[in-house]
Order: sequence, then structure tokens, then C-alpha cells
Amino acid sequence: MSADYPSMTTAEIRSKFLNFFEERGLKLYPSSSLVPDDPSLLLANAGMNQFKEYYQGKKTMKEIGAISCQKCVRTNDIDCIGEDGRHLSFFEMLGDFSFGGVSKQQACAWAFELITKEFKLPLDRLYFTVFTEDDETHDVWRSLGVAEDHISRLGEDDNFWAAGPTGPCGPCSEIYFDMGEEVGCGSPDCKPGCDCDRFVEVWNLVFTQFENDGHNNYTPLDHPNIDTGMGLERLACVMQGVDNLFLVDTVQNIMRHISRIAGVEYGAGEKSDISLRVITDHIRSTSFMISDGVMPSNEGRGYVLRRLLRRAARHGRLLGINRPFLSEVVDTVIQENEKAYPELREKSAMIKKVISFEEESFYKTIDKGFALLNGILDRTDATILSGEDAFLLSDTFGFPIDLTKEILAEKGMAVDEERFRALALKQRETARASRKNAGADAWAGDADVLEGLEKTAFAGYTKLSTETAVTALVKDGARAESAEAGDEIVLTLAETPFYAESGGQIGDSGVIRTDSCTIRVLDTTKNASGVYVHKAVVEEGFVREGDAAEASVDAERRFAIMRNHTAAHLLQAALRTVLGDHVEQAGQLVNEQAVRFDFTHFSALTDEELLAVERL
Ligand code: ALA
Repeated sequence: MSADYPSMTTAEIRSKFLNFFEERGLKLYPSSSLVPDDPSLLLANAGMNQFKEYYQGKKTMKEIGAISCQKCVRTNDIDCIGEDGRHLSFFEMLGDFSFGGVSKQQACAWAFELITKEFKLPLDRLYFTVFTEDDETHDVWRSLGVAEDHISRLGEDDNFWAAGPTGPCGPCSEIYFDMGEEVGCGSPDCKPGCDCDRFVEVWNLVFTQFENDGHNNYTPLDHPNIDTGMGLERLACVMQGVDNLFLVDTVQNIMRHISRIAGVEYGAGEKSDISLRVITDHIRSTSFMISDGVMPSNEGRGYVLRRLLRRAARHGRLLGINRPFLSEVVDTVIQENEKAYPELREKSAMIKKVISFEEESFYKTIDKGFALLNGILDRTDATILSGEDAFLLSDTFGFPIDLTKEILAEKGMAVDEERFRALALKQRETARASRKNAGADAWAGDADVLEGLEKTAFAGYTKLSTETAVTALVKDGARAESAEAGDEIVLTLAETPFYAESGGQIGDSGVIRTDSCTIRVLDTTKNASGVYVHKAVVEEGFVREGDAAEASVDAERRFAIMRNHTAAHLLQAALRTVLGDHVEQAGQLVNEQAVRFDFTHFSALTDEELLAVERL
């Protein structure tokens, strides 16, 4: 490809973009973590994520707008990653954002100036798309000097952008660069948006004007907004005159490192090229994800990480690498990115540990898993793998279902996914039920018997004893008007000082006295309607619904529980200090005797680590 514009490194592109907008009064924000502060999003996937509340009008900014270079992960097209040189699961997004401070005309004019004057891309190689009905943006590009035949109108699929199923969204306009007829498909219909390599989308300008409630109800936002995103690696590809993302300066050395380990040159064959690209891409994204605290697991973002790592490990096998190797490549990922992302160097030991641990544990079962799968494939003419076999591969051999699907797809086969999901769900439910049974008894929140009762007022944060009244009695599973010595009962109070089991802390015990009786409270829980349920035994006398009562918590026991609760927090802090910020609580049990704290970490603790945690 003949480059009729100057070449630029990735670092130069990044700083040119950011400087250009800083000079125009927009404020620079650092990239936010890949783990978003937004429950509707698994992983950061766009520069606008960290500004969501500005778009929604919940926050305001004194500057006219913001800019950033954002770490992004997108895995919706994971199957394409590696197949060609145009997709990455991890990429950096340069963007300028405004929440009423910059007009659409201005945003387009800046984009045009930056790309033609600063990056010096020739206008005859630039193409623009606009949303079908968006005459305004069409006219803006025309007024800036774009020829009519370099503008096309596309529908909602291409030119309407949303970060996810809910939140700010709107029509967009994209800027494409023509990589040259020689790399195109040659079809007379080939134009921006075509699947071939000719037109590369480098910049997306979204005119964020709606909020989607998740049911496609689009409410106009208070003011017009700007949200733009430029794929840094894509622009680097253009600026460096290379025909694929894996040859960009910051990416190619990672691929070279893998080539050296495998003893396979890039370009040696179609299959090995795919594997080299898959591993290069996945080791970049997983290194960044782990540095931001994602840990491998079977759910959510942890699953995305696990799947990427195992897919990369498998492609290592396909290249003939018969040992864990991924953690070695992390060094090159860090070297290529540490200037812009110093957190990679800071977390390097952790990133490598997590990757080796995950890779090694997959290696332990990978051969058996493949043997099982190949055995099944040899024996059957069917084109569908049973849900049972897929479940066995996942549960016993650590093959994420998507990996199994991918391997089968290469052989023209599919999985009975519905059956697989049913089995996986059943296993999760069994596990959940057994955890529950180990804790509170099932008697506690029997909603039917206690239906209609008011939510109980909880006084136990400040008082351990309170004057109250008995609001309901339950004996033998049914409401009762009274109970007497020897009866095992459930009772509720108007106000209670008894803490109800929740968040892994057990319920209080103690005593309830009325004028005519003494009741020993053995445990306290809370039902879904917020009614505190005391499990108790009548020790002496006779109690009636409505009786006035004095409820007193066993203070000594409660203080012991509180101390252990505090200990759980201290333990968590010590674990984070010694092992790293990735440590998250995964469960806990606090009672008067002990605390059990479950946490996420990628390997068993060494004796030294245990000692360090204990010392703290
Ligand atoms: N938020 C827009 C995108 O990601 C700019 O493409």
C-alpha cells in the first residue's frame, strides 16, 4: 500500500488526538477501569461509559466537554477474532464527549480538521456515512468539502449506536478510510459497511439524544450530546500503512513473541495465522482485564476472561506448543503498553500468576477432555453433541461451553445447548440449596402463615432490650392465639432488638418476657416482607397474641458475633493488602464462635502468605 500521508506511532496518534481537543477546551479524563461502575455493563466497551450520568443529566461538567483514551473490551464478535485482521477484543478508544456544550456541526468540523489537517489523511480516501434520515449531518459533511459520492446513508443497524440494552443512545455518522481497491472484494456494491477489508471504519460520531429504558422506549435527553469513538489501533493501522491490526507497532511484537515460542512465522499458513492472531489478541485483553481486577470464574466477566484464556491455550496447542506459555507473553504485552498504562507493570506479578494458574489447571485436564471429545466424535455420526457430554466437558474438564461449540463448529457439529443449560442450572440450584440448608432452617420465613403482618421495626442497632408486643404466634406450622410451657413456637414482635440472620451473620438469641411467661429465643430470621421471625421455646407460663413483652438479646453472644463480624472486615483488608485488590468476598459465616470468610483468589495461599495475613 502506498502511503500518501506521514506515518505515526500509536503513541503519537494518541497524544495528537488528546492535545487537539485539550487545546479546544475539552477536559482530559483518564481511562476508567475495564470493570465498569455500572451494573448494566459487564466490561467497559466504549469511551462514553464513564460519562453515562452526564448524558443522563445527573451530573454536569463546567468544561464544554471531555476527552479520553479508554480501555475497551468487546467480545460479542469473539468468533471473528483471529479469523481476520480487523477485529480485536481489547482496543483503545479515543473519544471526545460533550453534554450540551458542543454542537453537532462543531463536533463534525473538529473531526474533519483533525483527520485531514493533523493526521493529513487525503480527502479522496475518506468516506462518510450518515443515518438515513439525518439530512443535517449530511449537509455538514458537504459544507466541509466532502463530495456527494463519498457520503452514504445507512439504516439503524449501522448508524444508530447504543452502549447496551439500556441507557443513552442515538443516530451516528462514521468516517471510513479506503485502504485501496486491491484489498477489496471487487464487488460493484463494495462501499463503507461492506464486510471486506477495503473500507476501515476509523471514527464513529454518535449524536446521543435518547435514553432507552430497555424496552425500546426512547425518551429524548434534555440536551443534544456528542459521543465519539475512534479505534486507536484501527487508525494506527491506517497511519502505519499496514493491512491488519496485528501488524500495528504495539501489537506486532506480541505476535512475534508467540511466533518465537511456537517456532512458526506469521504468514506461514492460514491456520497458523489464525492461531497467532487469536493468542495475540487474547493475551492483550486478558492481561488488561486482570490488571483491572477481573478473576477467572464461571460467571459474568470472570467467564469472559476464562473463555479467552482457554481459547488462547487451545490455539497454542494447535500451533504445537505443548506446555503452558501464555504468562511468558505477558512481558511483551506490558512492555508495549506500560507507558500509557503503568498499572500493567504494577500488577505484572499478579497478571502472570493468574494466567499461569488458569492455564496450568486447564492443561491438567485438557488432554483428557480432548480424548473424551474425540472418542465421542469417532463413535457418532450424529451432528449434535448431547447436553450431558457438553456438561461433562465443562464440569469435569474445564471446557467452557463456547469453546466446545467452537471446536464442534469446526467439524460442522453443534451442541444440545438447551439440555446443557438445564444441567448447568440444576447443578447451580443444588449447590445453592445445600448452602442454604447448611445455614438457616426452612421454617423461618413461612410467608403464608405470617401473611398480612406489618414490617417489624428493628431497634437492635442502638438497643439490646426493648418494650414491645407479641404480634403473632405460630405453633405446628399454623397461627395460634396462645402458647404454653414446652411449646416450640415462632413469634413476631411489633419492634425487636433481635438481629435477623443476613449477609452471612447469624441471628440473635435471647429471651422474651411477658407478665405471665418466659420465652427463650433460639434464632432470628427475616422473611421477604421484612417481618422478623423469632424461633423460640416457651420455658414457663402462658403467652397470648397481643401480650406486652420485654425482648432482650443475649448481649454477651451478640458482642461475640459483632467482634467476629469486625474480624471479617479486618481479615478482608489484610487479604487485600497481602494478596491484592482482586480479593473479593465470596461468602461468609459469622457466629459467636468464629468467622469463616470465603474470598476469590486464583490459587491456594502459601504458608508465607497465610502468615503475613495473620500478622496483619
Ligand atoms: N460510543 C461510540 C462507539 O463506541 C462512539 O462507537
